[in-house]
Amino acid sequence: MCGIFGYCNYLVERSRGEIIDTLVEGLQRLEYRGYDSTGIAIDGDTPDKTLLYKQIGKVDALKQEIARDAPERDIAFASHCGIAHTRWATHGEPRQINCHPQRSDSQNAFTVVHNGIITNFRELRTLLANRGYTFESDTDTECIAILFKHLYDENLSNGHELDFHELTKLVLTELEGSYGLLCKSVHYPEEVIATRKGSPLLIGVKSDKKLKVDFVDIEFPDDTAGKPDTPLGSKNATPNASSRNLLNGNRRTRPFDGNNLLPLTANEFNLRHSQSRAFLSEDGTPNPVEFFVSSDAASVIKHTKKVLFLEDDDIAHIYDGELHIHRSRRPEVGASMTRSIQTLEMELAQIMKGPYKHFMQKEIFEQPDSALNTMRGRIDFENGSIMLGGLKAWLPAVRRARRLIMIACGTSYHSCLATRAMFEELSEIPVSVELASDFLDRKCPVFRDDVCCFVSQSGETADTMLALNYCLERGALTLGIVNSVGSSISRATHCGVHINAGPEIGVASTKAYTSQYIALVMFALSLSDDRVSKIERRKDIIRGLHNIPDQIREVLQLESRIKELCQNDLKDHKSLLVLGRGYQFASALEGALKIKEISYMHSEGVLAGELKHGVLALVDEQLPIIAFGTRDSLFPKVVSSIEQVTARKGRPIIICNTNDEVWAKKAETNKLLTLEVPQTVDCLQGLLNIIPLQLVSYWLAVNRGIDVDFPRNLAKSVTVE
Ligand code: UD1
Ligand code: F6R
Repeated sequence: MCGIFGYCNYLVERSRGEIIDTLVEGLQRLEYRGYDSTGIAIDGDTPDKTLLYKQIGKVDALKQEIARDAPERDIAFASHCGIAHTRWATHGEPRQINCHPQRSDSQNAFTVVHNGIITNFRELRTLLANRGYTFESDTDTECIAILFKHLYDENLSNGHELDFHELTKLVLTELEGSYGLLCKSVHYPEEVIATRKGSPLLIGVKSDKKLKVDFVDIEFPDDTAGKPDTPLGSKNATPNASSRNLLNGNRRTRPFDGNNLLPLTANEFNLRHSQSRAFLSEDGTPNPVEFFVSSDAASVIKHTKKVLFLEDDDIAHIYDGELHIHRSRRPEVGASMTRSIQTLEMELAQIMKGPYKHFMQKEIFEQPDSALNTMRGRIDFENGSIMLGGLKAWLPAVRRARRLIMIACGTSYHSCLATRAMFEELSEIPVSVELASDFLDRKCPVFRDDVCCFVSQSGETADTMLALNYCLERGALTLGIVNSVGSSISRATHCGVHINAGPEIGVASTKAYTSQYIALVMFALSLSDDRVSKIERRKDIIRGLHNIPDQIREVLQLESRIKELCQNDLKDHKSLLVLGRGYQFASALEGALKIKEISYMHSEGVLAGELKHGVLALVDEQLPIIAFGTRDSLFPKVVSSIEQVTARKGRPIIICNTNDEVWAKKAETNKLLTLEVPQTVDCLQGLLNIIPLQLVSYWLAVNRGIDVDFPRNLAKSVTVE
């Protein structure tokens, strides 16, 4: 998702041009994670100025933005801290004003880059607005920058000039949610704060001198000291030890030569510095050093392999060539008192994909999390209620619709097919599902009382977008189920749901499919929340959704069996049939699509009931077949379809529910292989059943030496008709 990068040089002279290039290149190393906008903050010509550059689009667009402003590149900085960010929009669409760094005010007093979500940002915004602060962006991050300023000013007006980390502690007490964040300020030149909670951050250290020790001591608060002013609280508190020290004189006493702040002498230095043993030279003076702060080792590894991983609630404070790590609370018994500086042995590609060989594999394995993220904050499992913020106001209009038309392409089309029956059952609105290109070719009649729902991972697919324009022209209510915030479809629709699956990089769509499926189920559930007749059914489905992430995790454990299957039973075949019926017809189509696009093996999703009308002619002991035989009301019919196959010496691999006795017996008599998946509510079973097929397609492709993430002839986002 979003990416953070920071670069601090101390006594290592760098021109502004070099600093910009380092920051921009750091962002480029984060590009693979997916993003929609970028930005950096660096020092101006004097330490009381911060320059901000932000742009939507790719890093190249940021470079152009910087070039347009043409800041002098040759100015040299003996010491400097710069921060940078790639953003994947969650709060507010990708607009320049929403890009990070976010700032506290028009003077850029505090600038912040942030990954994660501040869940109480609305309350903070209201509180700060009541105190006269104005907001320029839609982001949750802006309130962090303003909070820094508010606190700084408030304490200063009471005579407390806080150290940067003390100020940060105050800010953090107000924040709820998750964050990895960097903060830079004109009040703390050449300093940077890096802190995290639930979002990764690491710090790379580069120095020509050998570090004295390979760890950094954690600095805990002195409980005997008074407390500084709290942000939104009392004004009568006394400053604590750390801020009193500063008032005694060693803050900002550094000489300024008109361009740069000059280094401190050893004596001056030791006044403020006590604990950061790793970075001092023998005589106690600081060494030249560079720090690279990042949310991802991928952007650090080029510069140094020596890294320190921050832990939740660590506040790293970098200044004067030192790295201090503070914590707000005294340590619990047994807690570590240091953070070790480790040597990374990983290569770049390895870091980007984690333990996985390909993005597709990574994304398949991300599904327990992405499924949860689609539901996060939207389903109250205790009360059994659903709240889709983007649809709430539109539900009455949707309920009045004459029909609902779902329109999409490829995998997204399959997620519509998979949920159609459940949708009609719960909403009692007739639903038609359309391939966007065919819908346009037919010039399908659309009326003002139709609701048209566009499903797309990228939000940029040309056919889907054209169909959307077609429906808008005819006055229909349009709705999007989209992964990319700020994409064309997300913007052009009247309303919709972001599926929040996170960026999908592998060309084959995997986690977007399961998240679209869940978003459509949640949509149907919200439409039916006033129907007494559906109470029990809704409860079952919501309970089912609650268990889905764990059940997906369970299915993923089939990987080694599937890998084996692909190496043996499915090897060297030219064609494969996937059979499904009812809810599982969509799974069959989607499974077959995955197999052809990734492994280049011909594969056909077949409605099991249609076998006898033609496809049965293909069946013999050679043709590999995968059949969905999980339990639902159509189970007897599925069993009979599969018997038609075994009667013709076919040996289908059955995807069935765990410990299903019917299949256990049949597997024994007919020597069939089974892949067992846990059981869930019938209309959710497709979420679990598709996973083995995703893995089959992946391993078939890997065995054939295909570049899984970039299959031939395909692009991630099909922006041509
Ligand atoms: C929104 C925030 C989310 C935050 C939550 C907290 C955004 C993008 N999302 O999520 O970060 O945690 O509030 O309350 O700011 N929309 C379309 N077409 C589409 C998809 C969405 O028009 O295809 C519209 C929706 O109608 C809505 C807006 O985009 O107005 C945001 O949609 P969504 O992210 O799904 O809303 P929330 O879940 O409320
Ligand atoms: C298959 C796949 C494609 C897309 C299709 C629509 O794995 O990725 O079939 O599903 O091109 O793309 P979106 O969902 O971006 O509109």
